Amino acid sequence: MATILAIESSCDETSASVCVDGRILSNFIANQTVHEKYGGVVPELASRAHMQNIVPVVDAAIKKAAEIHDSPFTIHDIDAVAFTQAPGLIGSLLVGTQFAKSLALALDKPLIAVHHMQAHVLANLIADPKPGFPFLCLTVSGGHTQIVLANSPYDLKVIGETIDDAAGEAFDKSAKLLGLPYPGGPLIDKYAQQGNPLAFKFAEPQIPELNFSFSGLKTSVLYFLQAQQKEDASFIEKNLNDLCASVQYTIINILIKKLKKAVKQTGVKNVCIAGGVSANSGLRKELKENGDKNGWSTFIPAFEYCTDNAAMIAITAYYKYLNKEFAALDISPTARAEW
Ligand code: KG4
Ligand code: ZN
Repeated sequence: MATILAIESSCDETSASVCVDGRILSNFIANQTVHEKYGGVVPELASRAHMQNIVPVVDAAIKKAAEIHDSPFTIHDIDAVAFTQAPGLIGSLLVGTQFAKSLALALDKPLIAVHHMQAHVLANLIADPKPGFPFLCLTVSGGHTQIVLANSPYDLKVIGETIDDAAGEAFDKSAKLLGLPYPGGPLIDKYAQQGNPLAFKFAEPQIPELNFSFSGLKTSVLYFLQAQQKEDASFIEKNLNDLCASVQYTIINILIKKLKKAVKQTGVKNVCIAGGVSANSGLRKELKENGDKNGWSTFIPAFEYCTDNAAMIAITAYYKYLNKEFAALDISPTARAEW
């Protein structure tokens, strides 16, 4: 039996999860709304909010797990404490790391350090049906865009990634140009559902191999909107649905084209998506349709395991626990981390 308490605090979500033998019993997430008015995450405010949220969130995760567990259960029954060690905002990571280290020391339990991006990929192993190995995973979040080849939980290889902005940034920056509040990705998704994806055409970059680029799209949207607004000051307002649908269509096109190329190159037909942008309804639909058309088995984590959450840290830590991959108590978080 392995009962793991996991903590995620890499950006602006404070989350805690309890996992018993690979089964998630609880996954609590405290979102931080304080950043909305600044148009992006303010690191200092994120750290402070983590400080406030971490104890109640851990407490809630333990209590919920105790309700579901078949025998009496308290924090003393956990076998290991896991935390996100990298990558992320350093002040945010420090809060989760220090909390996890203190708890591991106090309970005299092993500590498990988890890589946030690997955890996004392994979120696909939380619920059935799970992909068999090897599988490909397109991880698309606010900070990263990667194609990962997963040969086992211990053998994850990045085979393609963005050379500039992440897909989530492309959504958020385009949304900002359209006058939508941060984070704009979910709003583009919402308005796109009423719009025509072929109404406007934006630049699609030609990037070699399995890599991506999204900074040109933002510029293309900016110049297009500036020109149109000069002719008609309410152009955005009148065309918001079509603009959102067209931006979303372009981003999804860029992503799916590279995913197809990755399948062709590797011959791997188990295809997953992960990360905050995998919550996008257009991307989910497109992945499913491509899977049906091309004979792929496709997997998409439940919504709560797509955006930042501690359940994905817990499932990754579970495999590390099985392999006895424990961290020393003098470990530090790092903002950037090699894979
Ligand atoms: O993985 P995540 O929660 O945090 C990071 O580690 O970055 O991803 C957040 C990103 C944001 O850019 C947000 O706009 C985007 O995911 N996002 C979406 C949707 N839901 C979240 N983008 C497009 N459509 C959505 N439905
Ligand atoms: Zn993330």
